[in-house]
Amino acid sequence: MSKKLFIETLGCAMNVRDSEHMIAELNAHEGYELTDDATAADLILINTCSVREKPVHKLFSELGVFNKLKKSDAKIGVCGCTASHLGKEIIKRAPYVNFVLGARNVSKITDVLHKDRAVEVDIDYDESQFAFKDFRSSPYKAFINISIGCDKQCTFCIVPKTRGEEVSIPPELIVAEVKKAVDNGAKEVFLLGQNVNNYGRRLANEKVNFTELLRRVSAVEGLERIRFTSPHPLHMDDEFIEEFARNPKICKSMHMPLQSGSTNILKAMKRGYSKEWFLNRAQKLRELVPDVSISTDIIVAFPGESDEDFEDTMDVLNQVRFEQLFSFKYSPRPLTEAEKMEEVDSEVGSDRLDRLQARHDEILDEMKSINLGKMVEVYFEELRSDGYVAGRSDNNLSIKVKGSEEWLGKIAKVKIIEVSRNVQYGEIIA
Ligand code: SAH
Ligand code: F3S
Repeated sequence: MSKKLFIETLGCAMNVRDSEHMIAELNAHEGYELTDDATAADLILINTCSVREKPVHKLFSELGVFNKLKKSDAKIGVCGCTASHLGKEIIKRAPYVNFVLGARNVSKITDVLHKDRAVEVDIDYDESQFAFKDFRSSPYKAFINISIGCDKQCTFCIVPKTRGEEVSIPPELIVAEVKKAVDNGAKEVFLLGQNVNNYGRRLANEKVNFTELLRRVSAVEGLERIRFTSPHPLHMDDEFIEEFARNPKICKSMHMPLQSGSTNILKAMKRGYSKEWFLNRAQKLRELVPDVSISTDIIVAFPGESDEDFEDTMDVLNQVRFEQLFSFKYSPRPLTEAEKMEEVDSEVGSDRLDRLQARHDEILDEMKSINLGKMVEVYFEELRSDGYVAGRSDNNLSIKVKGSEEWLGKIAKVKIIEVSRNVQYGEIIA
């Protein structure tokens, strides 16, 4: 009987891809098959996130639960960003954990598996060209790493300390991965990096920036859709926005992580742009791509944020009218510059978060009727148990239509007939 692997993936798309890599390596070299039942697993992996404090607390309570329910000889491994930053501390606090594997050491998964209490968390380790075995959670779309690590020093962010310095994966390897994914049936690729439009850092052989990479990837025959995350507003130059607008394979949905609308706070965060720059870029995007959907990340109550600063954030929200908002209350992280700064009162932070989210809900309600009656192209990726198939429009609307598995992996024209804040219903036209 094959050995069973249970894996829980927290956090960002990069973690999802890291999990796919570990699943592939464990399957090819050790014969592990996936299970969604932790009690039946021979190996339990938690791929952790450390950007905010809550998930870290949750980790230790979850580890305790897994330790109780697991088979007596099953192993537990902790991987990802929390593994990178806590390292051997994890084994100290939870001695039953068999190994700890950092976010930048994923390729060593089959080594640590056989070493008792191994801790591999070297953030200088460069696995950007490691030839991972193949595994994809979806046959329809492929996550493809284009860079690892991050060279920015945003003062709130722990990621540069857990994923190390930024290294670009050579363009020819990326294009080869895209071709392979398309040959295996994917019509959509999702290019991944902490700061994708800074692509080109530490490339050994030639100078290729993100815009040029997008052109090369879009030349792959059979590929229909390109998405990417996350770009940085600072690096959204005209060339990039114009390529985004012009290239028909690039999906018209852009993530623009604002973080704060106050130029003062942006300075304290070391984001490198001002409120005016952000508004200018969003405006250019909306002008060139009228159908674009813009998503954002916002942190409220960063140390020193005054009522006035917060009003600037509300002002940007009201001007840009983001189609999607991921918002967080500031959470002090170890190893970051902001950790030592004086915090905003917690209740004030919670009120601001509530106000921001409530206003965003109103904006979504105001905007949703715009989509009613619209024709969109939907790539169907998921069969729902309620007789619907679901997919996304080019500009990232989540769309459900009545239908069966015959639509999976197909792109169809859909007319939107019912709208809500988060899901639209449609009917297939062609
Ligand atoms: N470059 C990545 C950033 C990863 S962190 C990206 O752009 O996606 C993802 C988001 O978590 C950030 O954009 C930020 O909004 C939020 N975040 C990061 N550190 C945080 C902290 N200390 N407190 C609250 N939110 C944080
Ligand atoms: Fe973090 Fe800023 Fe990089 S948010 S991942 S340090 S771009």
